[in-house]
Amino acid sequence: MKVLVATDKPFAAEAVSGIRNAVEKAGYELVLLEKYIEKQQLLDAVADADAAIIRSDIFDKEVLDAAKNMKIVVRAGAGFDNIDLDAATANNICVMNTPGQNANAVAELALGLAVYAVRNLYNGTSGTELMGKKLGIHAYGNVGRNVARVAKGFGMEVYAYDPFLSAEAIEKEGVKAVKSAEELYATCQFVSLHIPATAETKNSINYSLLSKMPKNALLINTARKEVINEAEIVKLMEERKDFKYVTDIMPGNNAEMAEKFASRYFSTPKKMGAQTAEANTNAGIAAANQIVDFIENGNEKFRVNKK
Ligand code: 3PG
Repeated sequence: MKVLVATDKPFAAEAVSGIRNAVEKAGYELVLLEKYIEKQQLLDAVADADAAIIRSDIFDKEVLDAAKNMKIVVRAGAGFDNIDLDAATANNICVMNTPGQNANAVAELALGLAVYAVRNLYNGTSGTELMGKKLGIHAYGNVGRNVARVAKGFGMEVYAYDPFLSAEAIEKEGVKAVKSAEELYATCQFVSLHIPATAETKNSINYSLLSKMPKNALLINTARKEVINEAEIVKLMEERKDFKYVTDIMPGNNAEMAEKFASRYFSTPKKMGAQTAEANTNAGIAAANQIVDFIENGNEKFRVNKK
């Protein structure tokens, strides 16, 4: 069995050795493709692989069609919008993610970005604090839950909206549940995004929603750039000088944003949320173990595509 680790953005070295141990312990072979430049390198690498561990690497129809021996692809992470699930199903390939494994890393970055924003991007001027402020968590999944835990440590008042969870499930964790996204944005000066990029959520963070936020609003995005309506956030920030936006996913209009809103907009140059040794190790080893358990025992617990 050949297990390909295909990561344009490589895992930490200790994560790779943990993955190697798990793969070799099962008697499989590990093949490493890191920082590839051409798509052809990926097409060549998948050709004879039985399994693959990837991150945000694009596994579209062309890649999945070229993966003639592939049985399983595990996205070491949460979001699987980089994989063509229908093409995987058509090729009889099981797709999984590793939910929760990198959640703490992303949550720590979300709060780190919030501090950076309220301290005026560390430019030496007087900023504000997080303590006592209302933080709205948009989607209360693994990352949202960790953001709530860290935010409580800062003394923030934490709210959440999640269309797939009952108010009871959210409130038992000491977080105030609201009934709609509109209510969350209208209530909270700070909003942290944790929604996946789906047909329903793309462009959904728009002018109408963001304009509901109270004075000195801050939007923190460690989710996906596709969920933001880029033209409308520009319009809003042009109108509202009190509105700040920090993101871990560089938008398509980064140059325009950086030029127009230099003191209240920041994007990391490359998505850094899950880029820690701990998150890489947790997600990478979980992915390797899921592959072994799938091949040996047919365990499909974390499957995300149809059969
Ligand atoms: C995820 O969906 O798990 C995060 O966005 C992390 O993505 P990455 O592995 O490409 O850093």
